[in-house]
Amino acid sequence: MRIVSSFRDFAPEPGPTIGLVPTMGALHEGHRELVRRARAECDRVVVSIFVNPAQFGPNEDYGRYPRQLEADCDLCAAEGVDAVYAPELHDVYPDGFSTAIDPGEIASEWEGAFRPGHFRGVVTVVGKLFNTVLPTIAYFGWKDLQQCLVVTRMVRDLDFRVRLEFVDTVREVDGLALSSRNAYLEANARLIAPRLYSELKRSGEAIEAGGNVQEELDQSRLVLRDAGFDIDYFAYVDMKSLESLDTMLLPSAVIAAVRLGSTRLIDNYRLHRQA
Ligand code: PAJ
Repeated sequence: MRIVSSFRDFAPEPGPTIGLVPTMGALHEGHRELVRRARAECDRVVVSIFVNPAQFGPNEDYGRYPRQLEADCDLCAAEGVDAVYAPELHDVYPDGFSTAIDPGEIASEWEGAFRPGHFRGVVTVVGKLFNTVLPTIAYFGWKDLQQCLVVTRMVRDLDFRVRLEFVDTVREVDGLALSSRNAYLEANARLIAPRLYSELKRSGEAIEAGGNVQEELDQSRLVLRDAGFDIDYFAYVDMKSLESLDTMLLPSAVIAAVRLGSTRLIDNYRLHRQA
């Protein structure tokens, strides 16, 4: 017998490694990149597809969120996925469902401030997916940077026995981050949309090069507003705590959420691409 103070002292369960890619479907090349990473690194690959009502606010796009299970399954089959887990609403939220995970402080700023309850919905469903699929590794995209940090914190705080891997954002040639919501962009908005990443990158690189944080952020906000964006936030933050920074510190990122008409876009630029 051994006395252990941490479950991490136990060897992992023997058997095949399982990679999980949690998604809400409408799969695109960004999701495909996560699947490819999982396929390259795990014995079994599971993609979950579930448009999770708990992470949408009352005035958000739950109703019109794109749903295309057949095309998604084709993409998964082409990438050698072993199983698509596509539960029905009542499978995830049975009658009388009442338990949730509270993600705490790290979920209260930025996306959390503009989308109250969003991360509570995210971590609750992700926790359920971890419990049902029991993945060895779960894959998430840096595109949703705060989601990566909130899930990391949940895994640590609640001792989920899963390793997390984060994948760089896949972009269109003009820099626009791939997103299922890009489909909502009207032609004119689609032309303007890449300005978001060009400003994230410009200000991020300027800060990296020693520029004044406040001046760079102000300049980017000005440029984006002139181009027709409504800005929810455009901020320079510490990558661990997500607190605003006045001076350059690593690891850090410039993060933003903007609206173009009725479409909301989020994106970020990580300085030096550090972990
Ligand atoms: P969804 O928006 O479908 O995204 C699924 C995963 O794909 C997330 O980890 C997201 O960060 C990643 N992703 C999205 N666009 C990407 C891109 N352009 N490049 C690389 N990765 C990208 O995020 C969710 O679903 C949900 O919140 C979920 C975690 C499934 C919980 O419901």
